[in-house]
Amino acid sequence: MKDDRHFFIRDPWVYDPAAPKPIRPDADLGFRTRALHAGFHPLKNQQDFRSFVPPIVQSVTYPYETFEEIPCPVYGRTRTPTNTVLENRLASLEGGEACLTAASGSQALFNLIFTLARPGDNVVTSLNIFGEGYKQAATIFPERCRVECRFVDNPENPASWDAQIDSKTKLVWVETPSNPCLFVTDIAAVAEVAHAKKTPLMVDNTTATAALQRPMDLGADIVLLSISKFLSGSATLLGGALVGPEDLMEDIRWNTTEFIGAIMQPQDAWLTLQYLETLPLRMERHSTNAQAVAEFLDRHPNVIRVNYSGLPKHPQHDLACRQMKSHGGLMSFVVKNGVQGAATVMNGFELIVHAVTFGTSRTICMHPPTITHEHMTPAERAAAGIDDGLIRMSVGMENPKDIIADLEQALDRL
Ligand SMILES: Cc1ncc(COP(=O)(O)O)c(C=O)c1O
Repeated sequence: MKDDRHFFIRDPWVYDPAAPKPIRPDADLGFRTRALHAGFHPLKNQQDFRSFVPPIVQSVTYPYETFEEIPCPVYGRTRTPTNTVLENRLASLEGGEACLTAASGSQALFNLIFTLARPGDNVVTSLNIFGEGYKQAATIFPERCRVECRFVDNPENPASWDAQIDSKTKLVWVETPSNPCLFVTDIAAVAEVAHAKKTPLMVDNTTATAALQRPMDLGADIVLLSISKFLSGSATLLGGALVGPEDLMEDIRWNTTEFIGAIMQPQDAWLTLQYLETLPLRMERHSTNAQAVAEFLDRHPNVIRVNYSGLPKHPQHDLACRQMKSHGGLMSFVVKNGVQGAATVMNGFELIVHAVTFGTSRTICMHPPTITHEHMTPAERAAAGIDDGLIRMSVGMENPKDIIADLEQALDRL
């Protein structure tokens, strides 16, 4: 029995690996069709007006018709009609039951762990994760919430994941391909070890997006997305999302967005819907450009290593070919002369812009050791392959010859 003060606390979501996965009604439509149609029908979804484009409902509150009837949505902190269209579209693209948006991808990650784990529990992940994710795992959760985050020693080996999972593990978290070193983790193999210990697997699908990789088809239970990256593609908005079982999404909504806030704004959700219409086309172009750029860099004498799973010499090239449609627009490479070498090359760029994000239509670059992953210890950076001379590059949709020409003139300054 709950006492009266706690009437609002839901029974927590309990992971059941044997529960049948419900099939979404739009599951038969092709991916490119769902990127345009899922979650909104221009005639069926509207009671009071017709519109070809989903409406932006920029309202904080939703009036009651009668005293007795609580409307849904009721208040903008919980859900809004525009965000609901986006949530249904993202759930459809990822092949999940439901979706919940958040103010950013980092917020979505926080909401997930905060909802699933209690003091004394743990989360298992690897060092192949984005910088803010690492900061949450290494400091915020252990120090503020007493939730330990364990980093597996050898993420290539499923046994290494298995060794860290115990009865207190509430989540296994894989980022693949990872930012910034494009490490590829075997989703199906890690799902198997996680499920054998009755633990849900979350895959961060930010770098590939559902256009190139569908973690849920490979056994993932939850998908994390930063909408700020390829999904929106223009560095014009911040947003994040989780896709997963409806009960869990409602649990997270109830424990975080409903009471705490930090939601994605309807305007940004609406913009994302417009950007998603071109996601499959954009991801194809990013991938072909990145492949050409990676092949060029791989031949350049001033480049020590290229991290891009489209190169046959990438350690997980075969796995990436199996679990991804193509290899995406994010890559990184190590230049000669460490930090100084990276500074020389990056200061030499004329077309490529130095900026902290990825997934943009224009090519940009960034130096992870001093910017996003500066809080890792030197040993952790070494284990994650974040060398001093590492440059992360998000390959845009320009003519690839122009990107390569800019790289060539900058690399020749070394
Ligand atoms: C792989 C990955 N996931 C999630 C995030 C968090 O996204 P946001 O910037 O929207 O908080 C990032 C950000 O860099 C990322 O690289």
